[in-house]
Amino acid sequence: MGTRLAGRRILCGVTGSIAAYKVGDWVRDLRRDGAEVTVVMTGAATRFVAPLTFAALSGRRVYTGMFDPEDAEKIPHISLAREHDLILVAPATANTIARLANGLGDDLLATVILASRAKVLVCPAMNSQMFSHPATQANLARLREFGYQVLAPATGKLACGEEGPGRLPEWDAVREAVLAVFSPQDLAGQRLLVTAGPTREPLDPVRFLSNPSTGRMGYALARTARRRGAEVVLVSGPVDLAPPPGVELIRVNTAREMHEAVLAEYDQVSVVMKTAAVSDFRPRTAAVHKIKKTAADRSLTLVRNPDILQELGNRRQGATRPVLVGFAAESRNLQAEGRRKIRDKQLDLIVVNDITAPDAGFATETNRVLILDRAGGEEALPLLAKEEVSDRIWDRVVVLLGCNS
Ligand code: CTP
Repeated sequence: MGTRLAGRRILCGVTGSIAAYKVGDWVRDLRRDGAEVTVVMTGAATRFVAPLTFAALSGRRVYTGMFDPEDAEKIPHISLAREHDLILVAPATANTIARLANGLGDDLLATVILASRAKVLVCPAMNSQMFSHPATQANLARLREFGYQVLAPATGKLACGEEGPGRLPEWDAVREAVLAVFSPQDLAGQRLLVTAGPTREPLDPVRFLSNPSTGRMGYALARTARRRGAEVVLVSGPVDLAPPPGVELIRVNTAREMHEAVLAEYDQVSVVMKTAAVSDFRPRTAAVHKIKKTAADRSLTLVRNPDILQELGNRRQGATRPVLVGFAAESRNLQAEGRRKIRDKQLDLIVVNDITAPDAGFATETNRVLILDRAGGEEALPLLAKEEVSDRIWDRVVVLLGCNS
């Protein structure tokens, strides 16, 4: 599946920190996403990782110095500066940060950055005292003034044995920042609510009623919305997925907890995307102690849970905000069921998927959906990765936000 990185030219500037070895994996992942990656190393970086490692991982020659007798007619800092769409400085040491903040041109990487108009992303990695030092903080503030994006370092145990901020940011967060550079920022300024995953309705302390939702579609929607500049609140049932970087995560278990969390956010968001597979019923009572096996059969009395989306539709009463998007997992009559839910719940859009298809719906990486709108329009998307499906859904939401603003 293609990503927004296909054909993008990224220059990766590696500087002298022990974290340099981690960036080898990043280079490999960027290439896997379709980017062309050229590595420039400072002299100190070559003491930690051999240039050959990066040459093998990037599939290209690695640049380590200003003066290249092998390629004398080319001026490397100018050609490298012009040829790239993004410069990723990772790991960025305190020394490199100081050099960039002061506009020095005393090594190849600093000179390339001075000569380039590309977006610059800086991933600091250093001892926490060095990071918190006012000199480093002032230098980082300067870099932000230049328009460079500085990612927050991760906090935790450092190679020097200390604990605190200074660890190289996690790749998931860096990858998202890279993807954001190449994504339209058409959801910037919007606060959005996405719900995801199943709910669990307890029977006793060790048993519950639930469904096979894995949360993948909702998490992909939250991730891609953040990537397009939105502020995202993700209300999630219990799932086994890492929270998307930069997203505000509220964890819930039951439909009633989800109901409460969604209502608390309702007035502050411009879109509600209800991907969650909410249990329509719950056991009337949840036993305090574990239910014991007895000879007799047992029956279970179920009571209705609130229909959260229906309630939001009723509350909105003809207003255009928040935009309401529902999801429906159906096994037959996809169109008719989708149309009924748009009408009953007063939605703007509904995304319907056929749960009988093996490559769509629950627990798959891909989805094939039908998007129905209020005006009677219908769009059948081909089989796509869930992030690509998400982008197509956000494209529709962006139009609705624009029309009604
Ligand atoms: N939904 C909700 N609260 C519920 C049930 C569903 O907010 N108690 C939302 C889901 O998050 C989804 C949409 O409503 O966006 C449709 O869910 P679905 O289970 O397909 O619809 P139901 O209303 O439960 O309809 P039915 O049981 O008739 O299929």
